[in-house]
Amino acid sequence: MSDLRQKIQEAIKHIRTKTQENYPIGIILGTGLGALAKEIEIDFSLDYGDIPYFPISTVESHQGRLIFGTLAGKKVVAMQGRFHFYEGYTMQQITFPVRVMKYLGVQKLFISNACGGLNPQYRKGDIMIIDDHINLLGTNPLIGPNDAELGDRFPDMSQPYSKELIELAEDVAMENKIKVHRGVYLALSGPNLETRAEYRMLRILQADVVGMSTVPEVIAAVHQGTEVFGISIITDECFPESLVPVSIEEVVEAANMAEPSMTVILKTVIARVSV
Ligand code: HPA
Repeated sequence: MSDLRQKIQEAIKHIRTKTQENYPIGIILGTGLGALAKEIEIDFSLDYGDIPYFPISTVESHQGRLIFGTLAGKKVVAMQGRFHFYEGYTMQQITFPVRVMKYLGVQKLFISNACGGLNPQYRKGDIMIIDDHINLLGTNPLIGPNDAELGDRFPDMSQPYSKELIELAEDVAMENKIKVHRGVYLALSGPNLETRAEYRMLRILQADVVGMSTVPEVIAAVHQGTEVFGISIITDECFPESLVPVSIEEVVEAANMAEPSMTVILKTVIARVSV
């Protein structure tokens, strides 16, 4: 058995001492978006530090625990706090929780993040449903020996984000009069925000938003056959000709502002999906 699968099994063995339930829905909560966790009727939670091989969160705006409970009538397992490449974790560490989720029964993974808006039509506080991504992290979680039990050596990426979930979310947004964009998320390592010249370049690459997360987890999820839905909150406007300094506090504040709308979308989509 591969080293990775052995680690997954140890983590699962520990979690299975607490629950025998199947959790068909997985959720990863991003920067400033932790409040969705309040909507979950929590059965129990585990600190990352208590789960074998789980990394521990270092960013202050992220709590580090795995929540097990019910949301919109579905059993969910939610990461409150995620791991970023800029924190120094390996790609394998960043994607480990996604690997574990599969063995807890997760079929559909919902990922949220805060990002900068590159598309001139987008404004601070807007919501974008992720249609596709560009990986400019300079690395990939699938580098290394491939465990065929987990997925293919050369996984297809023609449709990483579920078309069905995108369309369902757009319907939900419309019904609730929430404006949403649909666009391309581009991932860079960070941790610094980008220069004006970089924003100009990223726009040429036809990215709509830029952020420092999500793409590793999505690649691992697609690799293992987990359906993905991604949603971004635009926390700052990255327009090179009118760029102003941005602080992490402003990013968190903008994310918090858009959170109620994002919560409605996620909750309603989760209520309606069949698993
Ligand atoms: N770049 C620019 N602005 C941002 C980012 C980013 O990665 N994340 C949130 N706002």
